Amino acid sequence: MHKLGNERHALIETLHSVQEAFGYLDLPGLIYVAASLKIPLSQVYGVATFYHHFTLKPQGKHACVVCTGTACYIKGVPDLLKSIGACQGVEPGETTPDGEVTLLTARCFGTCGIAPVVVVDGEMLGRISPDQLQDRLKETSGRDH
Ligand code: FES
Repeated sequence: MHKLGNERHALIETLHSVQEAFGYLDLPGLIYVAASLKIPLSQVYGVATFYHHFTLKPQGKHACVVCTGTACYIKGVPDLLKSIGACQGVEPGETTPDGEVTLLTARCFGTCGIAPVVVVDGEMLGRISPDQLQDRLKETSGRDH
């Protein structure tokens, strides 16, 4: 928002930044953008749904967004992604075959001090290990593997 000057004409670029940061555009994100740019929510929603580039929700029932920013990358994101790939069978951008978990990546949540950071269904998990993330995903999806 600051970078783009809270300008109304920057709506598409702003939505693009939000999606890049969080992996998709959820309703609180759209409401925030609409209020900040002083644009009716209906218009923001219209733009977000018009362009195929924008995703309003992850395809799976649950979203696991792994930060791949520099700090998180250094603190172990490659191991986290490898572990998710091995146990859940998904690469970033994919959803598990049972439709439970969609794996997404984002650039930086702005919480580098607790890297590596993963957001599962909106809950930020810092300093998370591959095992802890696996446990969390099992708990979230109600699966035992
Ligand atoms: S790099 Fe991951 S939170 Fe900043």
